[in-house]
Amino acid sequence: MNTFHYRNHALYGEDLPLQEIAERYGTPCYVYSEAALRERYHSFSTALGGNTQVCYAVKANSNLSILRLFAEMGAGFDIVSAGELERVLRAGGDAGKIVFSGVGKSSVEIRAALNAAISCLNVESAAELWRIADIAADMGKRAPVALRVNPDVDPGTHHYIATGLKESKFGIPMEQARDLYLQAAQHPALELKGIACHIGSQLLDLTPLGEAAARVRALYDELAADGIALQHLDLGGGVGICYHDETPPNPADYAWTLEQALQGLEVRRVVELGRALVGNAGVLLTRVEYLKDNGSKQFCVVDAAMNDLLRPALYGAWHDILPLHQSAEATQPMDIVGPVCESGDFLAKDRPLAAKAGDLLAVMSAGAYGFAMSSNYNSRPRPPEVLIGGHQHRLIRRRERLDEQWALEENPGR
Ligand code: LLP
Repeated sequence: MNTFHYRNHALYGEDLPLQEIAERYGTPCYVYSEAALRERYHSFSTALGGNTQVCYAVKANSNLSILRLFAEMGAGFDIVSAGELERVLRAGGDAGKIVFSGVGKSSVEIRAALNAAISCLNVESAAELWRIADIAADMGKRAPVALRVNPDVDPGTHHYIATGLKESKFGIPMEQARDLYLQAAQHPALELKGIACHIGSQLLDLTPLGEAAARVRALYDELAADGIALQHLDLGGGVGICYHDETPPNPADYAWTLEQALQGLEVRRVVELGRALVGNAGVLLTRVEYLKDNGSKQFCVVDAAMNDLLRPALYGAWHDILPLHQSAEATQPMDIVGPVCESGDFLAKDRPLAAKAGDLLAVMSAGAYGFAMSSNYNSRPRPPEVLIGGHQHRLIRRRERLDEQWALEENPGR
C-alpha cells in the first residue's frame, strides 16, 4: 500500500497534499494515515488467523485516538506501565485482551492490573512472581500469569533493542522456567495462563523468531507432561519494517514461521506487534530554517530535533527524508540537523537534498517510537499529531503550549 506518495511532484498522505497539513497545523508535526493503520492490522490479523490475538504494543505509539482505532478493530494490547493501562482503558480497549510486559512492575501497577482484570501479566523474574502472588492473595484474587522466558536466541538487530539474549535484562532463563512453573502451580493465588517471550525489535529475518517459538513450544510440551495445561503462547512482537531498502517479513511469512514452529498445537496464540502496525503509517513534517556551509560540510537546519524524533540520535537509525515538493535543482549531500544543543542532534547524515530555507520535508516511517519517545529537552514543546483519512484530517493531539512545560513547577521568586 502506497500511503505516502508523490502526485505531480507533491507528497501526499492518502488524498491530502501534506503541505496543507504543514500549513494548517505548523511544523514540526506528526501525521498518521488511518488507512495504513487499518491495512496493517487487518493484514496481520488475517494472516495469523482467528486463533491468534493480535495485541498492539502500546509503547510504539500511545495516542488515544490510535489506541481507539485498534480497539475498534478488535486488537488486544501489550502494555508496560500503569499509564499505558489507563490509556488503553480510556480508549475503550478490552481489559480481557490486555497483556502486561516489563521487568519492573511496581506493586501499584500490579494492583491496577488485577483490579482491571486484564488477561495476563507476563512475569519477568521469580521475585516478581512472588510479589504478584502476595498482592493477589491480599486482594482475594487469582492473578493470571505467564512467565516471560528468555530463549537466548540472537535476533540480529541493534543491541539496544535485542531482548532475547542471555545477557539482556529481560525474561527468565529457559533452564529456570520449568521449576518456577512447578512452584507457581502450587500457589492458590496464581493462575498459570501461558508462556511469553519477546526476542527483540526491528527483526528482518524470521529464523530467530521461529527458533524462539520452537523453544517456547518445547517448554509448553514439557509442562503439559508435568500436568500443567496452559491456554496460550505469547510469541512477542519484533517484526521489522522498511525504513530504507530493507525487505521486512510480510504477514503471511510471519504467520507461516509461527505455524511451522507450533504445528499441531491447538493452544491459543498471542503476538505483541508495535512497529509493524504503526511504523510506516506515520511521518514527521518539518521545515527548513537555514542552510549552513561550514566549509567541509553542508548542514540543513530544520525545526524538528532529537527531542521530537530520538531514533537517529539514539540508535543511528535511518529515516528517509523526502521533500514535500520535488524540485529539479541539483542535490548535494547534507546533514539534516535540529536546533537542539548536541552534536548528536541529527535526523539524517550526508543525504543528497536540494533544499532551501522555508522548504518542507517529511521524515518518513516515524509512526513507531517517534512521538512516543519525544521529550521537552531544550524546553521545546512537543509537536501536534494529526490523523488523516482520505481527504480528511483531524488533530488528535495539539501542539504543547510553552507554559505547559512548567505548569508542574514551583517558581519561588514570584
Ligand atoms: N513486546 C515487548 C515485550 C517488547 O519489549 C516490545 C518492544 C514489543 C512487544 C514491541 O516490539 P515491536 O513489534 O515494536 O518491535 N525504541 C526502539 C524500539 C524498542 C522496542 C522495545 N520493545 C526503536 O525505536 O527502535
